[in-house]
Amino acid sequence: MDDSSLCKKLQSKVAIVTGGASGIGEATAHLFADHGTRMIVIADIQDEKGQQVAASIDIHRCTYVHCDVTDEDQVKSMVVQTIQNHGRLDIMFSNAGIVNDKDDTILELDLSGLDRLLAVNVRGMAACVKHAGRAMVDSGVKGSIICTASVAASVGTKRYTDYTMSKHAILGLIRSASLQLGMYGIRVNCVSPAGVATPMACKAYGMDVERLEKVSSSHISLEGMVLKVNHVAEAVLFLASDASAFVTGHDLTVDGGFLASPRSI
Ligand SMILES: NC(=O)c1ccc[n+]([C@@H]2O[C@H](COP(=O)([O-])OP(=O)(O)OC[C@H]3O[C@@H](n4cnc5c(N)ncnc54)[C@H](O)[C@@H]3O)[C@@H](O)[C@H]2O)c1
Repeated sequence: MDDSSLCKKLQSKVAIVTGGASGIGEATAHLFADHGTRMIVIADIQDEKGQQVAASIDIHRCTYVHCDVTDEDQVKSMVVQTIQNHGRLDIMFSNAGIVNDKDDTILELDLSGLDRLLAVNVRGMAACVKHAGRAMVDSGVKGSIICTASVAASVGTKRYTDYTMSKHAILGLIRSASLQLGMYGIRVNCVSPAGVATPMACKAYGMDVERLEKVSSSHISLEGMVLKVNHVAEAVLFLASDASAFVTGHDLTVDGGFLASPRSI
């Protein structure tokens, strides 16, 4: 082992990153590659962007597949093909998520919009955990499954009722799945970022990157710090790697102290 491989935490691993064409998923795919991952499968619905990200990493170690996580057959086939093409699956980062255009309170909640959002943020995440879990159990891989929840998984919010509901569900998903898959040595955790200026967040709040970062930073206790996608990716790397071998059923907040003080978002 040379010196450069000593700090590589995911040597020889095979990983799937859903929502890997943009934002947190894109940053995590790059960090996984830096840490020696043998193959990263980026699964997304933004084909051009996904292919660009894969090419920018390394076409021999990163590939893009179109996979709409709302369609269980597509999720199943993406997992099966990963194993057929790359031999195994060690890491599932189930990260794809959306925010609805309307930031409804409960009084005007659009139930069709709620269905669409839950289909991605809850049903899609559950399908990824289910099929990754099955594949790991069948192949005897003691893998790591990580979902992206949010600080909105742990507090009520004044608006974005549907989104907050969906992220609360992820805590139930990872806690239950961690209990059920623990007997196979499979770990299931989630990361919960505060506001980070990705395309999704900027669009949802109607702010540019600079403004959103300023607003987000005003809610945290770490003076002078700005949450970036790489901070979240580092937390995902920890949960994906053996450094977190005894961590399961855990919600790892990446929020600069946001949740430590009672306030409304
Ligand atoms: N940005 C934030 O402030 C923030 C905070 C907490 C949690 N999150 C969560 O982080 C995750 C990633 O979001 P992001 O901020 O990086 O946004 P993003 O828009 O940059 O990335 C989300 C990706 O998910 C993909 N996606 C959407 N629907 C999909 C589907 N049906 N199938 C497959 N892929 C789909 C999109 O194409 C996009 O590439 C989401 O789950 C989001 O809820 C974001």
